[in-house]
Amino acid sequence: MDLEKLAQQAKTSISLIEESSGLEQWRIQYLGRKSALSLFFNSLAQLSPEEKKHLGGKANKIHKELVLLYKNKKEEIEKNIFKKKDSFLDITQPGEKQILGHLHPLTLTAREIISSFEKMGFSIIEGPEIETEYYNFDALNIPEDHPAREMWDTLWIKPKTIKEKSRLLLRTHTSPMQMRYMEKHQPPFRIIVPGKCFRYEATDASHEIQFFQIEGLMVGENITLANFKAVINELMKNIFQQEVEVRFRPSYFPFVAPGVEVDIRLKNGDWLEIMGAGMVHPELFKKAGYKNNQWQGFAFGLGIERIAMIKYKINDIRLFFNSDIRFLEQF
Ligand code: PHE
Repeated sequence: MDLEKLAQQAKTSISLIEESSGLEQWRIQYLGRKSALSLFFNSLAQLSPEEKKHLGGKANKIHKELVLLYKNKKEEIEKNIFKKKDSFLDITQPGEKQILGHLHPLTLTAREIISSFEKMGFSIIEGPEIETEYYNFDALNIPEDHPAREMWDTLWIKPKTIKEKSRLLLRTHTSPMQMRYMEKHQPPFRIIVPGKCFRYEATDASHEIQFFQIEGLMVGENITLANFKAVINELMKNIFQQEVEVRFRPSYFPFVAPGVEVDIRLKNGDWLEIMGAGMVHPELFKKAGYKNNQWQGFAFGLGIERIAMIKYKINDIRLFFNSDIRFLEQF
């Protein structure tokens, strides 16, 4: 084989190449596994030692030259792509705007509330959306024949077998986590439990069959409603970035005593109810296995939609759930 001629051919033909597809063809032809040069290297074994040394060295030198030519050409082509006037890529064109998704107003509100509690030292706990009758009601002092069960219109889940011990339901509030948590943990502690709740309700501007709550539970030796009020004041300041009036109204929930409803009022606004709360009923501590009446604490159930509606001036709770893009795009 005429190595000189081969080298000459390769050099001439690479000098004519302008595009990377042509260069790739050139690479396959002159440096590929089936190129004349590769085949020549493979056949070296059959030559006499002297020929081998002479021709082998020559072929190596040519191979090196061709590899260098290839590298230089590749760089040259890459540089030229950006220079060519009619190139497919014009880096002076303004970029295409990327469409970015964004968070749902309820997510935004929940995150703000959660991070405010985190700053106050609360831990974040989650619980099941499908609950047993026991944790949703009985454990909270609401036995089957208790009239207070009427307060929570319940979506029951059909039992798979009639023998199932405890009936299942979609939790009507996040309060079942009070007992689930206390059964496993000794005070002192402070937790919040954000989560979805469900009620069997006719929907209107302020009622939905699904909604979000944040349950709170703080238990210790000397915890009082005054601590609760301080926590809520701090939370409101963080969320609304202004002074917010807070008032407690006496109310009734079987798992707290005393029970209160919490209303807030922003500057020039009306009083709006945002949560039920109270001091944890001693019966719950007993059920949880706490001894000696050593502990006391407060619990609350905060409606996330309520806060979001006040914060963003939304007048219909159903807007959060019907996926109307015109609504969602405003956040
Ligand atoms: N779980 C109650 C509700 O959903 C709210 C509440 C929570 C009341 C904790 C008192 C204490 O209506």
